[in-house]
Amino acid sequence: MTPSDRDRQPSTPEERYISVCQHDSCQRNGSAEVLKAFQEAKLPPGVSVTGSGCLGQCSCGPTVKVNPDNIWYYRIKPSDVRAIVKQHLEKGEPIEDLLNPRIHMRFYY
Ligand code: FES
Repeated sequence: MTPSDRDRQPSTPEERYISVCQHDSCQRNGSAEVLKAFQEAKLPPGVSVTGSGCLGQCSCGPTVKVNPDNIWYYRIKPSDVRAIVKQHLEKGEPIEDLLNPRIHMRFYY
């Protein structure tokens, strides 16, 4: 296993907290439906979800933050929730295509 492989090991904290912004611009873009989709999903043990105030990423909403992973998802739709549950919350592998690029910067050479 190379050092970079080790860095990619899925995180498996015992508890995760999902915040779904329910403030102005996120709400206008459907965050209530995103929150409802998480609440209706079968979340793994130790995962909780709640609506939150503004998370400071208003132009990228609906914003979803997963802690303690410190993963920020952007422009989330209810149809994205199943993939977040299956890939991130169950396997510990955040979904790169949904990561907020303002926070999770990627560099290509
Ligand atoms: S309104 Fe949702 S991040 Fe600000």
